[in-house]
Amino acid sequence: MTGSADFGFSPATSQIAVIGAGTMGAGIADVFVRAGYTTYLCDASQTAVNRATEAWKLRLHKDTERGKITAAQAAEWELRWLTCTPDSLPVVPLYIEAIVELPDVKQQLFGRLEELSGGQAILATNTSSLPVTALARTLRHPDRLVGMHFFNPALLMPLVEVISGEATHPDLARSIFNLAQQIGKRPVMVRDEPGFLVNRVARPYYTESLLAVEEQTASLEQVDRLLESRGFRMGPFRLMDLIGVDVNFSVTSSLYERFYGEPRFRPSRLQARKVAAGQHGRKTGIGFYRYDPPASA
Ligand SMILES: NC(=O)c1ccc[n+]([C@@H]2O[C@H](COP(=O)([O-])OP(=O)(O)OC[C@H]3O[C@@H](n4cnc5c(N)ncnc54)[C@H](O)[C@@H]3O)[C@@H](O)[C@H]2O)c1
Repeated sequence: MTGSADFGFSPATSQIAVIGAGTMGAGIADVFVRAGYTTYLCDASQTAVNRATEAWKLRLHKDTERGKITAAQAAEWELRWLTCTPDSLPVVPLYIEAIVELPDVKQQLFGRLEELSGGQAILATNTSSLPVTALARTLRHPDRLVGMHFFNPALLMPLVEVISGEATHPDLARSIFNLAQQIGKRPVMVRDEPGFLVNRVARPYYTESLLAVEEQTASLEQVDRLLESRGFRMGPFRLMDLIGVDVNFSVTSSLYERFYGEPRFRPSRLQARKVAAGQHGRKTGIGFYRYDPPASA
């Protein structure tokens, strides 16, 4: 990697693809479509793509009914929302990965995307906790991988963490920072440290609350009510259900490992049981609370 490089994006010239149509990928695709980008949403599961697309169309319909957007706007956005499967991945200048939080699976996908684009594409990862440096290790062009970490729900949360791995081209990080601003977000540059910034600082919100419930200091409903009454938008258990209990658990596990067993990041057995039972929150219809029918986050 030498010299400066042109990593500019604009809705007029760039199409993008979001890989992973779950909680985050669907939201990120929505952000890009509304910012003017033709956006492909891809997933290994056709059901996930269909569910995300149906939920998105319903949201557009409601936004139109409430007068938040015009019917013409909705119709225009619908033309920009395209879908695909791993067998029909498009060649685009930017791929944003939002798949399962497993390093091997992400690395395999990046390898494929690198091959598909002849090493020309930018690869951005939405990982919450995996080191960008390590994800890039298996790539032929590690300088083209960068962290672009959105928060949930992606459409509403302004913050985006931009993470440079050891090999990330500095111009690329700057360009992703500019892109985040262009799509209406408030980006911050953060170091490739465990949990980056927000997930590290926020971790005790979950781990301490889980411990309090495990030790029977309070019920989970009481913990949520108490914290919500003190000004938090969502109590920790309601928030874990929104995030995905499985996703939240893997982030905590990753931080615990990367901080060499630091006790304040120790994962909770109560949460591990929820994950093992498939009670992953809103997306499965049950987590710490019940949702009927399963709500898309
Ligand atoms: N949930 C959150 O609040 C949140 C916030 C910020 C970042 N993240 C990160 O975003 C990523 C996705 O999280 P999520 O909550 O959207 O997960 P999710 O479980 O809701 O969705 C993941 C999707 O990825 C798909 N998938 C898995 N392997 C795939 C592959 N090889 N190719 C294509 N699709 C594949 C699955 O079918 C699923 O639809 C994770 O890295 C997570 O750490 C999550």
